[in-house]
Amino acid sequence: MADKKLSTANYKGTRDFYPEDMQFRNWMFETMKKVVISYGYREYDGPILESLDIYKAKSGQEIVDKQLYDFIDKGERHVAIRPEMTPTLARMVAARARDLPRPIRWFSIPNLWRYEAPGHGRLREHWQLNVDIFGVNSVTAEIEIISLACDILFAFNAPKDSFRVKFSHRGILSSFLRNTLSLGSEKEEAVAKILDKKNKITQSEFESSLLELLQNPNEQLTLIYQYLNSDVDTVLQIPGINEESVRYIQEFYDKIKILEISESVEFDPSIIRGFDYYTGFIFEIFDTNKENKRSLYGGGRYDNLIGLFSNEELSGIGFGLGDVTLENFLKTHKLIPEFKRESSVYLTLMNNSLLSDTLLLARELRKEGIDTEISLDGNQKLGKQISLAEKKGYRYLLVLGEDEIKNNSVVLKDLKESSQIIILKSQLINELKKVLGI
Ligand code: HAM
Repeated sequence: MADKKLSTANYKGTRDFYPEDMQFRNWMFETMKKVVISYGYREYDGPILESLDIYKAKSGQEIVDKQLYDFIDKGERHVAIRPEMTPTLARMVAARARDLPRPIRWFSIPNLWRYEAPGHGRLREHWQLNVDIFGVNSVTAEIEIISLACDILFAFNAPKDSFRVKFSHRGILSSFLRNTLSLGSEKEEAVAKILDKKNKITQSEFESSLLELLQNPNEQLTLIYQYLNSDVDTVLQIPGINEESVRYIQEFYDKIKILEISESVEFDPSIIRGFDYYTGFIFEIFDTNKENKRSLYGGGRYDNLIGLFSNEELSGIGFGLGDVTLENFLKTHKLIPEFKRESSVYLTLMNNSLLSDTLLLARELRKEGIDTEISLDGNQKLGKQISLAEKKGYRYLLVLGEDEIKNNSVVLKDLKESSQIIILKSQLINELKKVLGI
């Protein structure tokens, strides 16, 4: 009886990246990296496993209770696979805080794990560009972070109206929950969660879930709507709102107006952010296409995270941009180019006795920076080798047969144009570089 085969399916909520998927992922990462590096940020990385404690301290209840992949290791340590990068970053910065020249501008593209119900824009493993700046206590850091976030989307040729930056401030939110609604600390988080979901549920679901929590529903619902409909100027008319926080975002809003992106940026008091460590400015960036409801970016300012690890006081601000939501965005707005193999060549092997000439030519080409894949089967007919090269996505193919060797030449075929030219060996490198655009 045949053995029962193991399943080829990957673990729920993860993806296999076949070469064509890697090509897309690398293109996406390279595009973001170029922008981030152009602002002076330097790349870092850290371990995928951390002590559970660093998430317990500040990441928030939902992440720790429901979304963490955690286990006890063989040395009895309680560890977790990173669900986000910010605690690792804070730990690394804290360890060297005294020596690092400020502002500290760092970025990373880690893979993160969260035990979630997979759905559109949400998986259990995703990659997330993290960009953070430490040591700047004024809105200039917020301005840089927001303009950098927008520039990444522009680098993908995103039109200005394809996304919206929505920002708020933790001080405004917490003063509203505490002073204006007088909820009491146990209910604050629950109400904040409902505000956070506002755009993902119907109005009646929104109201009925709030009514379960409010003591004076009529009055409190009116205040909630007044809050949600307020702008940077009118929010101060709501009793109990923290004035300093409002002044901060007013200053941010005034200054961002100098940049071309200001029409895409709006105050939205329903922005909550699920992590406990944010202390100031918070924001998310959304696709304007309603098919993609999940945020593309999420981030904000955190004043005390470094304090978990050291006595240094160092405020940080940054964001995470997820690859799943970004891919959906790029697909929806038709911003993904066709990936071709037009800057490399496929070299045929015309018969096995020509192996050494073929290998030597391939070596020479590679030494000159021309990526060259060779056929390894000289028994295959030329037609078969050409069709394999085509299947692999090559446009250019080199033929080095006995006649060519005799004449010191090589045939270059353009499979897209169905044309060919004979090139003298002495001119091959120059000609190829021209054709391949390298
Ligand atoms: P976050 O809002 O949890 O923030 O994630 C940021 C972005 O990562 C989201 O907007 C989304 O694009 C993506 N993302 C998050 N979870 C998933 C998931 N399960 N599947 C697919 N994509 C996902 C943070 O993680 C903060 N640590 C970001 C930060 C950096 N704040 C300051 N610096």
